[in-house]
Amino acid sequence: MEIKKVGIVGAGAMGSGIAEVLILNGVQVIIKDQNIQLAEKGRENVRKYLKEMENYTRNLPEREIKRMERFGVDLSPDQVKKLRESFPSPPDVEKLIEKLKVTDTFEDFRDVDLVIEAVFEDQGVKNKLFREISDFLKDNAIMASNTSSLNITEMASHYKHPEKAIVIHFFNPAYLMPLVEVVPALQTDESVVTSVMEFFSGKRNNRENIVTIRARESPGFVVNRILIPMITEAVKVVESGVADYRTVDIGMKKGAGMPMGPFELADYVGIDILYHVMESFRRDLGDFYMPPRTIKQLVDAGWIGMKSGKGFYDHREK
Ligand SMILES: NC(=O)c1ccc[n+]([C@@H]2O[C@H](COP(=O)([O-])OP(=O)(O)OC[C@H]3O[C@@H](n4cnc5c(N)ncnc54)[C@H](O)[C@@H]3O)[C@@H](O)[C@H]2O)c1
Repeated sequence: MEIKKVGIVGAGAMGSGIAEVLILNGVQVIIKDQNIQLAEKGRENVRKYLKEMENYTRNLPEREIKRMERFGVDLSPDQVKKLRESFPSPPDVEKLIEKLKVTDTFEDFRDVDLVIEAVFEDQGVKNKLFREISDFLKDNAIMASNTSSLNITEMASHYKHPEKAIVIHFFNPAYLMPLVEVVPALQTDESVVTSVMEFFSGKRNNRENIVTIRARESPGFVVNRILIPMITEAVKVVESGVADYRTVDIGMKKGAGMPMGPFELADYVGIDILYHVMESFRRDLGDFYMPPRTIKQLVDAGWIGMKSGKGFYDHREK
């Protein structure tokens, strides 16, 4: 099935990031949130991410020229001109943004081929959404969740065509992180998995080609199943006095090649989100995955990372 128009539910960090990637690739997108103001705010974020792409692309030739000069290559004016011309021109942000519509009603979703929901990480909220949207989508539409940890088989059972439900899991920020985990529900038809994998093949975000991997339904799929316990362990290292959090971040960046330390990552993702994922791992996989005390305390204090101005780090000082 050809996917030409995508509906996104939830215009937060993930919904707006996914919308940007899609419109950058020429896909028509309509985005819905709880009210039109929130949907508009999502569109403004999309504009910001597109501007980032515009600046990045515009600066590419100069960066390449400087890089070559650093290696001692002496380019003639003609070569510089040719090099500049060989780079892609920056995207036309205003033209692209026209591909993005906003709405506060599922009435506008009647012609979409694929929906990706990115609402709050709550099984009840997502089940209800899968049920409600059933009245509006056309029969062959694919209904996907961007959930990081919840049960897609349960969501699918609330949708009118459970065989068309699937997880399409982007990473944050979607416009820079190229991975998409594709996870079928127990009921999902194989043709839906194929359609989704084919849809993303050849698409790009602001930096790289999108890469899809397929996983079986299981808490955290592949990446978060490994990443979240790593953050838990980092917190335990600090709680037990081995080192402070800044030292752990330095250690993991310089010693393990991570682009961000576990505490920087925690603040970036949101400590509230991490807490919910850790709790859901504990419920499904056992007490080994229990959130450490510090994580619970930070959530209780409202110090949940960059979005609140404070988490492990104080972001207000920046
Ligand atoms: N933040 C991350 O690092 C990350 C990474 C991958 C996946 N996810 C997943 O993506 C989803 C969204 O996460 P986020 O970080 O974008 O959250 P967010 O809080 O930034 O955004 C959620 C948005 O959904 C809207 N919303 C809530 N209920 C709704 C409803 N019934 N109808 C329409 N809109 C509704 C909210 O108003 C909000 O704008 C979650 O399932 C989360 O687990 C998050």
